[in-house]
Amino acid sequence: MRLWLLLLPAALHAQNQLCAPCHAAIYKRYMQTGMARSSGRVDGAESFASAKFTAANGAEFEIDKSYRMRFTRGEAAATRMLRYFIGSGRLGRSYVYEKGGRFFQAPVAYYAATKSWNLSPGYETRQTVELTRAIEPACLQCHSSRGAEIGGGVTCERCHGPGAQHIRTASPKHIVNPARLPVEERESVCAQCHLTGAVRVSRNTRPYTPGAKLSDSIAIFVERGGSNEVRATSHFEDLAISACKTKSGGKLHCTTCHDPHGGEVTNAKCQTCHQSCSQAGPKGDCISCHMPKQPGNAGAHVPFTNHAIGVRTPVSHPLRPFWGAVNARDWALADPTVERLRAVPADAAISAQLAQALDRAGDEAAAAQAARQTLVLDPNHTPSLINLGTYQIQKGNAKEAMALWLRALAINPSLVNARLNLAAAQIQAGDTASAKATLQLLFDYEPDLPRARRLLQLLQ
Ligand code: HEC
Ligand code: HEC
Ligand code: HEC
Ligand code: HEC
Ligand code: HEC
Ligand code: HEC
Ligand code: HEC
Repeated sequence: MRLWLLLLPAALHAQNQLCAPCHAAIYKRYMQTGMARSSGRVDGAESFASAKFTAANGAEFEIDKSYRMRFTRGEAAATRMLRYFIGSGRLGRSYVYEKGGRFFQAPVAYYAATKSWNLSPGYETRQTVELTRAIEPACLQCHSSRGAEIGGGVTCERCHGPGAQHIRTASPKHIVNPARLPVEERESVCAQCHLTGAVRVSRNTRPYTPGAKLSDSIAIFVERGGSNEVRATSHFEDLAISACKTKSGGKLHCTTCHDPHGGEVTNAKCQTCHQSCSQAGPKGDCISCHMPKQPGNAGAHVPFTNHAIGVRTPVSHPLRPFWGAVNARDWALADPTVERLRAVPADAAISAQLAQALDRAGDEAAAAQAARQTLVLDPNHTPSLINLGTYQIQKGNAKEAMALWLRALAINPSLVNARLNLAAAQIQAGDTASAKATLQLLFDYEPDLPRARRLLQLLQ
């Protein structure tokens, strides 16, 4: 697809380019990979012809050549400038736009298989067009150079650690070479982004950098339901149950088959350990029989290579840590029950989970208490503000509820539920002027809310 070449922003090369003078061949090869091109700015896409499509929910979308996205559905309409892409485009691309200094995931995505635009994964079943889904920090953790920035793709430093000193000294002592690390440290480099597991629990320690054990920063729990379902990021889990991995005594790594700087995986890689096959002899295409492509989960629309080599009967096991030692806090967050959460010291994450668990258990008073505790630990925790508001309105304390929702909206003006609740409370209090203003602001962020629109018409 020519489109993707045009999309490549110049800025993408800046950071990796610092390594180029001394590692020219690796640099050149790496910059062609999906990883290197996994995110960036959508700048100057001169000859992209505009695209139009009608979504299942009736919304009509148009994306023009300057990446301006417009939609109309009934009375609702809006325009957003797509600013960044996520995904190299081998399979497809997601987009990100900015509003009021915040970043949101676009409801439209590009699909390489059909060479067309459509609703983004996860939006297909929505009755309305959603514009306020905040971009998840996790997307950027895996697709970008640094968590906080968008764009730049996966840089050399994500696998080799900080490079500034090595650039000055050119000494191998000042850079991480994963090949020289012990097994878990070595695997941690790829596991940052290729091991999602069932739950990832962020520990209150320093963030991971290459050379360290990922399990010191993040506790990763895995679970198998017996269906051997494949996800885009389950390569690690799948390989872990293959005899190739379990019986090769720490000698099989991602990099046994993959050159992370780019290149094909060949059958010769299998033959470093297996000379031949009882079924196909030494010449068969090992990979197409033993690592077939299979469809990904709903929403992914793409085939993935099965890394559970040789596994024929479905494997199932309950939730358990993938590696490393886990503690009571890790378990409490991975499998949150009131009992487990109460047994560990309450930090903001524990307290927020406890509030949710108590709410599920129907203990509203205790849930409200835990939500207040969460706000002491993290005054900007908007879900706690919204939930506390709901408890207050149920008790008839409209003033307190409105104050809490306004506090949440001051922190994040795009919170649709807080604003809807606020408008309803204002109407109930007879303050139609404020309610109208609240709804207008709401439509600014989220225009496709038919019920709220009818409400506004009734107020006019
Ligand atoms: C000024 C030249 C220079 C620059 C710039 C440079 N390197 Fe190196 N790099 C070297 C030299 C010289 C070696 C040692 C080669 C050898 O010993 O075979 C090396 C070795 C390495 C090694 C292997 C270390 C080992 O233990 O085997 C890695 C990994 C590496 N560089 C990554 C990088 C990355 C990533 C960047 C950019 C952040 C970078 N280099 C920038 C000169 C440079
Ligand atoms: C910072 C996150 C990150 C790290 C670290 C990482 N990957 Fe990736 N990898 C990705 C993402 C994101 C993609 C999908 C890229 C795309 O197409 O948009 C990917 C794609 C790939 C692909 C498909 C081909 C390609 O280049 O796109 C292979 C193979 C791969 N990774 C292997 C590895 C191996 C081996 C390691 C460890 C040495 C590793 N990755 C480390 C994020 C990462
Ligand atoms: C745990 C790491 C991780 C997270 C979190 C993650 N991705 Fe990915 N993503 C990957 C990897 C790895 C691939 C490549 C999958 C493959 O090729 O099998 C990928 C593939 C993609 C692709 C297809 C790229 C291509 O090859 O053309 C898109 C688009 C994408 N991701 C968007 C997103 C968005 C949007 C989010 C957040 C909602 C997200 N990803 C979160 C790791 C991640
Ligand atoms: C996805 C992870 C990843 C990224 C990104 C990455 N590397 Fe590497 N690199 C590795 C791994 C893993 C090894 C060790 C390979 C092995 O196991 O033999 C390595 C080895 C090296 C070496 C040692 C010599 C060699 O060929 O083995 C150099 C030099 C190097 N990388 C430079 C770079 C530069 C420069 C970039 C960016 C342009 C880069 N790498 C990007 C994972 C990565
Ligand atoms: C680092 C060495 C290594 C590599 C590389 C490797 N394997 Fe294996 N593989 C093993 C070991 C060890 C076993 C277990 C053998 C045994 O049980 O005696 C195994 C077992 C298998 C089995 C039987 C699985 C079962 O459950 O009985 C198949 C099939 C297989 N490998 C295919 C492949 C293919 C295909 C490739 C290349 C894509 C490959 N292997 C690469 C080490 C390796
Ligand atoms: C025994 C060889 C082997 C090992 C070990 C291996 N892979 Fe692969 N991998 C493959 C093959 C073969 C493909 C398909 C390549 C293709 O279609 O171009 C593949 C494809 C991929 C892709 C592209 C998306 C997909 O699913 O088709 C990613 C990402 C990937 N591997 C990541 C990993 C990671 C991470 C590890 C380590 C946990 C790993 N692989 C270990 C052989 C291997
Ligand atoms: C036409 C499909 C096909 C091809 C091609 C193929 N295999 Fe197999 N292989 C099988 C089947 C079927 C079995 C037996 C059942 C099983 O283990 O899945 C098997 C079994 C194996 C085993 C288990 C021990 C044994 O020999 O029975 C290994 C190891 C293996 N294959 C490796 C390879 C390697 C390496 C290649 C490439 C040189 C290869 N296979 C090519 C289908 C194939």
